[in-house]
Amino acid sequence: MLCLYSRDQTDVYLRLLHEALPEWKILAWNEGTEDAVDNDAVTHVVAWGAPPGFFARFRHLHTVFNLGAGVDALLKRDDLSASVTIVRLIDAGMARQMTEYCLYGLLHYQREMDIYRRQQLAEQWVPHDARRMSDLRIGILGLGELGSRVASDLSGMGYRVQGWARQARQIPGVACRYGEAGLDALLTEADVLFCLLPATLDTRHLLDSRRLALLPEGAAVINAGRGSLIDEEALLNRLDRDCLRFAMLDVFAVEPLPSGHRFWRHPRVLMTPHVAADTMPAEAVAQIADNLRRQAAGLPMKGRVERSRGY
Ligand code: NAP
Ligand code: GLV
Repeated sequence: MLCLYSRDQTDVYLRLLHEALPEWKILAWNEGTEDAVDNDAVTHVVAWGAPPGFFARFRHLHTVFNLGAGVDALLKRDDLSASVTIVRLIDAGMARQMTEYCLYGLLHYQREMDIYRRQQLAEQWVPHDARRMSDLRIGILGLGELGSRVASDLSGMGYRVQGWARQARQIPGVACRYGEAGLDALLTEADVLFCLLPATLDTRHLLDSRRLALLPEGAAVINAGRGSLIDEEALLNRLDRDCLRFAMLDVFAVEPLPSGHRFWRHPRVLMTPHVAADTMPAEAVAQIADNLRRQAAGLPMKGRVERSRGY
């Protein structure tokens, strides 16, 4: 039996799952209707944001399909045994949205919208020289499903793109780097830096005060990966000292961002509430159905998480 947990899209997912998997018994788990689910019959769960303790009730749980790309929250849980297979989504409509989000931030930088906004508030009419796409140096941390798509799209538009990943990668039109030295070199040459890495033990506070200081004067940082990638105090320090033009942040160390946090009102911070790239239900369900068929046929599933590396 497959059990679905979705905070606010239960009906949509339930309909799509029934259509895609007519041979499966599928039930949605809702607060208050727990008794409808025979916990011992559940072998597979499709979920995002399940409440603490949720998984502990399923004694025969075999596989969890994460309704998102990042699995940091699942890997931190204490109700999910290490023997359970975790499968994340691959793109599922998120890559195109991530390019849109990154491009928005990039154009904000290139067309100097932050500077013109300050001029507007000071009633200053001061046109600046235009900057060509090929004059802008882009750095992308993370070249997975999302980062590599953003890198290819921006490179295809004419931007100068460098990327960084754990292992060497080859993406046409993108200068790919890896390793600590590769990271420092990329940072010194990034006018606009995109963070599209997963949250793991290795990526925690990857952008600390030393590395943030490597960015060119007046650079911008755009984080749509996870809040833990950046030491937020160090970032605020660089912003306060006008070393960075702005930070555009979609993800935070604590979400929702606590009331009174300095990011809310900082003049050099643009923020969004973790919406850079949303899972598209139809694509997600098609992937889950395909993986269930692969699993039944003894084939490897796509997007299986390697717990030891954390993504
Ligand atoms: P992915 O396919 O797993 O790619 C992860 C990339 O990060 C890979 O290129 C990987 O390197 C690199 N990486 C991981 N650990 C590293 C390390 N220690 N040093 C250097 N590179 C490292 O993930 P994805 O689908 O692109 O998603 C990336 C992240 O975006 C997710 O984990 C999630 O946190 C975030 N996300 C955010 C939103 C949003 O709305 N804000 C939406 C979706 C996803 P290799 O290629 O060498 O393995
Ligand atoms: C969203 O943040 C995701 O990881 O899918």
